[in-house]
Amino acid sequence: MTLRTKLQNIIILPDNSILMNTRIIAELCEQMIKEFYSANLYLSMSAWCQEAGLPGCANWMRVQYQEENEHALKFFDYIHSHGGKAVVSAIAAPPTEWKNIQEVFEATAKHEAEVTRCIHQLVKLSREENDYTTEIFLQWFVTEQVEEEENVRNILDQLKLAGENGYGLLLIDRDLATRTYTPTSTAE
Ligand SMILES: [Fe+2]
Repeated sequence: MTLRTKLQNIIILPDNSILMNTRIIAELCEQMIKEFYSANLYLSMSAWCQEAGLPGCANWMRVQYQEENEHALKFFDYIHSHGGKAVVSAIAAPPTEWKNIQEVFEATAKHEAEVTRCIHQLVKLSREENDYTTEIFLQWFVTEQVEEEENVRNILDQLKLAGENGYGLLLIDRDLATRTYTPTSTAE
C-alpha cells in the first residue's frame, strides 16, 4: 500500500492528535458484532441448559453471556474513543438445540477457538497497519482468550469423565452454579 492510499484510509481528528485507520475501524466493528453474536449464542445455550434441568450450567452460560456483552462494548468504546463510529449491523441468530450437555460445551470450545483466531487476525492487521495503540488494546483479548479456552477445556474434561453418570453431572452442575459475573472495570 502506498503512502497516499494509506492516508486516504486514515481519520484525522480536528486537533490533528489522533489518527485512526478506517480499515481497522471496520474490522473492529466486525469483531464487536461477533462478540454480540457470542453473547446471544451463550444466552441460547443458557436457555437450553435451563430446560434440560441443569441450572448450574445455565448460570455459567448466563455469566458467559454477560462477559461477551462486555467484550462487545469494549470494542464499541474503543472505536468511539479513537474518533470512529461503531456500526451496529445485523447479528445472526444462534442455534437453539443441542443433543446433550457435552455437545453444548464442545460447541463452546469450537466457538472460542474461532474467536481466538479472529483476535489474532486483528493483531496481525494492526501490526501491518503500524497501529500500535490498537495492538495494545487487543492484548487484553489475547490473554482473555487463553483463559476462556482453558476454562471450557476443563469443563469438557470433567463432562467426559462423568459420561452417563448422573451423580457426576450433578456435581459438575453444582460447581458451575457458583460462577458469578464480575465486570472487568471493577475487577481490574
Ligand atoms: Fe469475547
